[in-house]
Amino acid sequence: MCGIVGAVAARPVTAILLEGLRRLEYRGYDSAGLAVFDGEQLQRLRRIGKVNILAEAEQQAPLKGVMGIAHTRWATHGKPTEYNAHPHMSGDKLAVVHNGIIENFEPLKAALIADGFEFTSDTDTEVIAHLIAQALRVKNDLQTAFLSTVSQLEGAFALGVVHTDYPNQILASRKGSPLVLGVGMGENFIASDQMALLQVTDRFIYLEEGDFAQVTADVITIWDKNLDKVEREIKVFEHGLSVAEKGEFRHFMLKEIYEQPEVVKATLQGRISATKLLEQAFGNGASAIFDQTKQVQIIACGTSYHAGMIAKYWLEDIAGIPCAVEVASEYRYRKHVVPENTLFLTISQSGETADTLAALREVQDKVLASLTICNVPGSSLVRESDLSLMTNAGPEIGVASTKAFTTQLVALLLFTLALARRSGLSEAREAEIVGALHQLPELLLAAVKLDASIESLSRAFAEKNHTLFLGRGPLYPVAMEGALKLKEISYIHAEAYPAGELKHGPLALVDKDMPVVAVAPNNALLDKLKANLQEVKARGGELFVFAGADHIKPEEGLRVEQMPDVPEILEPIVYTVPLQLLSYHVAVLKGTDVDQPRNLAKSVTVE
Ligand code: AGP
Repeated sequence: MCGIVGAVAARPVTAILLEGLRRLEYRGYDSAGLAVFDGEQLQRLRRIGKVNILAEAEQQAPLKGVMGIAHTRWATHGKPTEYNAHPHMSGDKLAVVHNGIIENFEPLKAALIADGFEFTSDTDTEVIAHLIAQALRVKNDLQTAFLSTVSQLEGAFALGVVHTDYPNQILASRKGSPLVLGVGMGENFIASDQMALLQVTDRFIYLEEGDFAQVTADVITIWDKNLDKVEREIKVFEHGLSVAEKGEFRHFMLKEIYEQPEVVKATLQGRISATKLLEQAFGNGASAIFDQTKQVQIIACGTSYHAGMIAKYWLEDIAGIPCAVEVASEYRYRKHVVPENTLFLTISQSGETADTLAALREVQDKVLASLTICNVPGSSLVRESDLSLMTNAGPEIGVASTKAFTTQLVALLLFTLALARRSGLSEAREAEIVGALHQLPELLLAAVKLDASIESLSRAFAEKNHTLFLGRGPLYPVAMEGALKLKEISYIHAEAYPAGELKHGPLALVDKDMPVVAVAPNNALLDKLKANLQEVKARGGELFVFAGADHIKPEEGLRVEQMPDVPEILEPIVYTVPLQLLSYHVAVLKGTDVDQPRNLAKSVTVE
């Protein structure tokens, strides 16, 4: 989704802004632009396409100045054209960048047109620039005009505003969309996330909902939604500055797949002893909430939703607690029954997904408590939930979620143990599961080492148009996740089915042009799954099966990729890795944009 960068400094800021935009590319966008104040006027440059195109244009006609704002746009209102790209201006003195959607922009626009303002774009954002200009006519004070404008906006926004009559400051505000302030030495910044600014600072302030900030090179002043001046904590970015670099890897996605053994260790760190869950990991008050929990409602989107589906198997099996799972965009817009003592669990890599956040806000006062399993500290979901468990995966740059998913599963297993303890889980069984978790980094490493073999397998998919993924039990959501990965980065149509459903319809699709991938660990459902695979084989389907040692024999039309032996509880986590690698290599063979697939955004901060 749209990305914002702004800088006010004693040195030229154009290079900082362009580098910031490059670092936000992972969020997804279709045009980019910037406006820099050169001491006399605001110079604006906008281009369709990649940031490099904008940077090349800037080289031809350099923008010089110590204050500026920049933006990557992911089109919502109006096509991806240069005239719709941000920053948007009112007159030649005022420029605005915006992430989010202004839901009431149509009546605002009509009123502004009636007042004589001319619009040069189809965007909702342009109303913000004109509203500020209109308010400045009433009282010539930028802060007052900005605040009166913000009070008229409905929807979600993060905003950055500059004005040539106020040459050393950026005004910023957020409601529903993320915005951080970067704290430098004699220079300060704004951005959609800290990744954009790691080249200039590792100190950040996370604005809270409704906050308004005035950022100058030396001072940051923040007011809360009641316009009371507030101090917000400065947090130091802990992951090291290299997280924003690909290093030796060709793509961020591959780097992030390879990081899984390490980041899973970080998820487990301090949360388990040799034999036990350390429940204080869930924070103060968690134990009392877990004592009262009678039911869990999980809400998430995309990959995070698949993690929730797996957790349902675990919670009902190990903890004996009823669990419902639903995608946020459905849940938030339907009437739902919330049984008493429901713990509301959101799962999100970014912590900013608009639908998940809206579902939480909708239900908050109807539930026992809310817990989020999230990867971004300080994100909206973390701030607005009663409890949080961080996944500690470190920043995930590739749009296709990989390490975020496996660390979510680890966190969900810890959560399952916390509830299972209250429903009679024996110490021996807890020690067995915790023991398995201790082995997990090694098992993930073994799975990652299948890379070369999976690369060779991927050639069978690159020319195909459709693929079917099969799994049973908690491996069914793993199949769904495999299908999502393949479609989002290789653009091959992929569907997942619980293998038992094959003969109820999808078997009709199977022929030699429809490769079928099955995740088939050696568990109680293996024999059932083998029978399903025979159904595919009998129809001439080509099978690619990920299976434990010697449980399925390769034969003509059936290729077996041998997986390490895995404790049953960990199967969904470890068997995810080869599916990530498969989609990665298919996408590389097809030459698609692996880290920034078309039409997609990393953090879906608008509906
Ligand atoms: C998966 O590869 C996608 N990036 C997407 O489905 C993602 O999981 C979804 O948009 C939810 O994002 P979140 O985890 O940040 O809430």
